[in-house]
Amino acid sequence: MINNISDNIWIIPYQTKSMGVLFKNKSTVIRINGELLIISPGPWDEYLKTELEKLGALRWIFAPNSFHHLHYRSWLRASPELEAWGTKALAKKRPEIKFNHIWDGEQPFEPEVQLFGLMGIPKIDEILFYHKSSGSLIVTDLIFNELNLTGPMNWFFYSLFGIWKRTATSRLFKMCVSDKKAFKTSLESIFDLNIEQVILNHGNTLDNKTDLVQTLTWI
Ligand SMILES: [Fe+2]
Repeated sequence: MINNISDNIWIIPYQTKSMGVLFKNKSTVIRINGELLIISPGPWDEYLKTELEKLGALRWIFAPNSFHHLHYRSWLRASPELEAWGTKALAKKRPEIKFNHIWDGEQPFEPEVQLFGLMGIPKIDEILFYHKSSGSLIVTDLIFNELNLTGPMNWFFYSLFGIWKRTATSRLFKMCVSDKKAFKTSLESIFDLNIEQVILNHGNTLDNKTDLVQTLTWI
């Protein structure tokens, strides 16, 4: 299901399960001058492709960190014209994925969308996306906000990582920060943005910047 959440922004929720643990995910789709940027592409199917093509031409897919690439190749097989973007860490981790571009600080979607790379966390190497006209910040694994999960396996996993029914950064993510100063500096530029909503891959959207800043007080 494709849900329109702001002018030129849609989300596509999907779920994955690993060792009994449920992960609720979402792809975010941004239309830029009639062309679609798909961030964290989820499971591909013909119906979804057809529905997306009603919104705009499929142009870019972007794997925003080292973890959100699981469905990437099925999109590229179905739509080889897509321009594939990824991070340095992901290209190293999964050399078999053929990226057209490895992000290196450039701004290919300006002026509509600005990219911010999180520094000091090379294993995850996450990029945040800021859609200027709607004030939307798109976050992948920096923050979880899953408040409605149930079941013992989910409780165990999410509690272990400090994100059981909380708006928080996971312990795994925190453990991967190898240069706290660089990480903090990279986030400070985000705090200066005019943020109206934070679209989270894992959980409910945060409605304002205050929630974002409060969640990141651990830095
Ligand atoms: Fe994730």
